[in-house]
Amino acid sequence: MTEPNKSEWNSNIAFVMAMIGSAVGLGNIWRFPNVLYSNGGGSFMIPYIVSLFLLGISFVLVEYAVGFKFKKSLAQILYFIKEKLEPVAWFVLLIVFLITTYYVCVVGWDFIYIILSFTKAWGANPDLYFANTVLHSTDSMTGIFTIVPNVLVSIAVIWFVLWFILKRELNEGIGFVSKLLLPILAAIVVIIVAFSLTLPGASIGYSQIFTPDWSALTNPNVWLAAFGQIVFSLSLGMAIALTYASYLPKGSKLVDNAIVVAFSNSGFEVFNSIGIFSILGFMALTSGIPFNELVTEGTGLAFVVFPQVFNVMGPWSSVIAPLFFLCILFAGITSAMALLEGVCYSISEKFLIDRKKTATAVCIVGFLISTIFATGVGSTILGVFDTYLNNFALLFAVLLECIIFGWIYKFDDLIATLNENSRIKVGKTWKTVIKYILPVCIFGLWAQGVYSTLTTADSTSITIMIILTVVLIAVPIIFAKLPARNKNFFNIEN
Ligand code: PFF
Repeated sequence: MTEPNKSEWNSNIAFVMAMIGSAVGLGNIWRFPNVLYSNGGGSFMIPYIVSLFLLGISFVLVEYAVGFKFKKSLAQILYFIKEKLEPVAWFVLLIVFLITTYYVCVVGWDFIYIILSFTKAWGANPDLYFANTVLHSTDSMTGIFTIVPNVLVSIAVIWFVLWFILKRELNEGIGFVSKLLLPILAAIVVIIVAFSLTLPGASIGYSQIFTPDWSALTNPNVWLAAFGQIVFSLSLGMAIALTYASYLPKGSKLVDNAIVVAFSNSGFEVFNSIGIFSILGFMALTSGIPFNELVTEGTGLAFVVFPQVFNVMGPWSSVIAPLFFLCILFAGITSAMALLEGVCYSISEKFLIDRKKTATAVCIVGFLISTIFATGVGSTILGVFDTYLNNFALLFAVLLECIIFGWIYKFDDLIATLNENSRIKVGKTWKTVIKYILPVCIFGLWAQGVYSTLTTADSTSITIMIILTVVLIAVPIIFAKLPARNKNFFNIEN
């Protein structure tokens, strides 16, 4: 069998849109406002901007340079750098795949909330409604044997949508969807933010962003939080930028593109948080609940606090509520498809399976794993997956990638690749950041994550984490050992 034709973006705008779509996700909408608030408000922007430039953009550039130079999948690139490194690629991709299995579930919950939002079906007590009526959540592990039908159906819908996008040719699928959804997403956020600023009490909220707590800057955890947000928000180390950059045509301006993508992503989360804070300020004024009790993150913010706000918002809520959940849906879909593309690409390159069949297999297996989250203990297991995969596994993978590209690979070749066509050039400073500063920061973040996870985990969580660890060691080794059907898998001409 011959190698399938290599996909290529038909325009730079498709690439940039897909990259921004991959970065702008649930993390921007519900993670950032909380991180900003808990780490000094306005003054947090200093560590945040430093992390964005020094670490975020720097690592995106590594992924761009590697993907663009080799024009191959992560598995093949790592094999080429050193044969023994191939399992590391499958390790990264498995983490990304497992993250997607629960990410899709949260997008599925959001899909349910779009429907509920038209009639505010969550009633007077959104907290109980979410736990009991939507999730049928139980603390007992026997809940694993009860399937929650509405959650299962919504997860199936999201996997179907992802399959429908991924099986198509690059520009007809991911390119088209990114160019369609991203402007709509931006328009929705502008409407929500503009509306939120007209609400009484909005200033109680947004003033928090502009009220700095300078003493926070001397706290190293604040700097780690800033860096952690950048890693999460820019989806660093997940092989997304590397895969998307490998589809770029010759002559692309890599550095310029990376800066546009990173600025758009950060611009989105800062702008969006003005809306979120204003709405929470309105809630604090109307309900008398202190502002700090309202600022939560994750599902608590989206599916509990926001429905509470919509309950007291008056007639406008029937427009703003569906728009809010639609915004999460679009942000989630463009990120989930990016997470899966890198996984599909490595599988299809090694085993010479065409795009459609790979997407079908990956989405079916993904859906089957996601069914765990559609059980009575789904949200508990999801929490453990999220903590373990993000705090432990992913950061460890990013650290490995940093060491591989910074130390094992001929790094100077990457500088030449980046500078070839870009107006903005990189040099020695970038090299120092990648080789020394970035690994130290990632290690700090990782150690902090490991410590906080181990000191807070209960015995059920520890059991799930041990199972995940075994899977994350065994499966990548098996995938690396499986013979490649693609004869060119081991030859990269460069
Ligand atoms: N950057 C995206 C977001 O902020 O939601 C995508 C993403 C990042 C998904 C990290 C999952 C994840 F663990």
